[in-house]
Amino acid sequence: RHALGLGLGAAAACYLPWNGVARAAARADAPPLPVPPLIEPDGNGVVKLRLGKGRHAFRVGSEAASAGVNGSYLGPLLRLENGARVTLAVENALGEETTMHWHGLFVPSRLDGGPHNIIKPGETWSPEVTIDQPPSFNWFHPHMHGDTARQAHMGLAGLIVVTDGKDGERGLPQSYGIDDLPLVLQDRRVIEGEDVYAPDLMDLIHGFRGDILIVNGVEGPVAAVPKGIVRLRLLNGANARNFHLRLSDGRPLHVFASDGGFVAAPGPVSRLTVAPGERYECLVDFSGGSAVDLLTLADDEETGEELHVMRFVPDAGLPVAVTAIPARLEDPGMPDPSLSIRRRSFVFDERLAANMALMKAPSGQMESGHGMAGMHSGHDMGSMEMEGMHDMDHSMHQGRSAGDAGAPVAALASGVRMAMAGEPFDMNHIDVEAKLGSFEIWELQTQEMAHPFHIHGASFRILTKNGEPPVPHEAGWKDVALINGRAELLIRFDREADRDHPFMFHCHILEHEDVGMMAQFVTV
Ligand code: C2O
Ligand code: CU
Ligand code: CU
Repeated sequence: RHALGLGLGAAAACYLPWNGVARAAARADAPPLPVPPLIEPDGNGVVKLRLGKGRHAFRVGSEAASAGVNGSYLGPLLRLENGARVTLAVENALGEETTMHWHGLFVPSRLDGGPHNIIKPGETWSPEVTIDQPPSFNWFHPHMHGDTARQAHMGLAGLIVVTDGKDGERGLPQSYGIDDLPLVLQDRRVIEGEDVYAPDLMDLIHGFRGDILIVNGVEGPVAAVPKGIVRLRLLNGANARNFHLRLSDGRPLHVFASDGGFVAAPGPVSRLTVAPGERYECLVDFSGGSAVDLLTLADDEETGEELHVMRFVPDAGLPVAVTAIPARLEDPGMPDPSLSIRRRSFVFDERLAANMALMKAPSGQMESGHGMAGMHSGHDMGSMEMEGMHDMDHSMHQGRSAGDAGAPVAALASGVRMAMAGEPFDMNHIDVEAKLGSFEIWELQTQEMAHPFHIHGASFRILTKNGEPPVPHEAGWKDVALINGRAELLIRFDREADRDHPFMFHCHILEHEDVGMMAQFVTV
């Protein structure tokens, strides 16, 4: 298997996604941080979400076709009380099929909004859900098989906060938009001044990465914050980019919660990696009054180059509610791994994409069905892929104009297939049956690159990553984990999944998901 490897790391090194417009510093005319509207269920317990298309300016001078929820890009933040019964009325005014998945909400699979819950154009899908989980920061986005990447990139995503009303007692900031700020981290690709989602073969292999970074839909915003403790709710809503965050003056991010709620040991972190789909909540101390920039490493190649994400500017006019970092929050406890009733293993399989790239290579450079003997040098393989992709690259861009919202990945990907459970995703094949209420240990293995693993309707604890226990901020309940090498997860299957609407598990690099790096399970 390894001999057939793609050499993705090396290929990535020769591939230059940057158009030279990424920024290392705040710009003088930086826009204020947009704060998503906060909405709560109406008197009848209904939340209305209208999906529609529009246009949106990600940066000055670059407007693009976009889509949004109750607006033209991204959507509101829904605040839902634990225990509430809520109708999520999703109106599809997009003019195309979609689905809406509640990423991180624990609901039965028929309400989960996966690829089997298609909402036709003009229809409204109204699942009635009961909120039954600890306080946590979650989100929602479409999940059309083969078209999730494009629809999410257009802007169809919003936020969900599950609350138990006790954050005041806990000493946590809770004034939305003032000391409690959601930050949706994404990237865009700008070609000739226009935002374009037009992935080529290499983008399908690596995941589509943009060349400008946006927060809540705009490049490099500035947030005015009170001169006290501020809560940041971080969501990586990018299709493929990992964010490796740091504050420019070295002050720590005090991470106290991740995907599934509070972590066991909240603590200061100087560099925080957030993978696609992953959430972290952290506290930052702005009492000193000085402005600070949020930075990320430029890419995953560890060149050390940093890019500007956004800026925080303390404002003495804003009310300070919290002046100290709470020493301790609820400990989520740790289930005993010996509760696990079985082990399974899965490989993030890029092999079929590799075959595609090799098929495209000039003849004589490969022998089908045989290993790549004598071609173990990553550089050869990388350049071969580059040559191999030219035809595809041209044909895929034909007839597309800048600003075009693009075509479904599935339509571009003829021949590119990846797999999560042995074979590329098949809507009609159940890959796993798990016992409802049970624990299992899943061993996950990557081959050529890191992949963010995500599972619906279940949550997990990381037992090991490459043989080591997880770092404290990765040690709580999670639904996404970045896997690079080998990891063991202890998974709790606690929501029911039927055969007509199985739950998904997949890579959260959305292009990988769309080309088949996804599988499905039911509970029995
Ligand atoms: Cu956020 Cu299956 O996805
Ligand atoms: Cu999900
Ligand atoms: Cu992946």
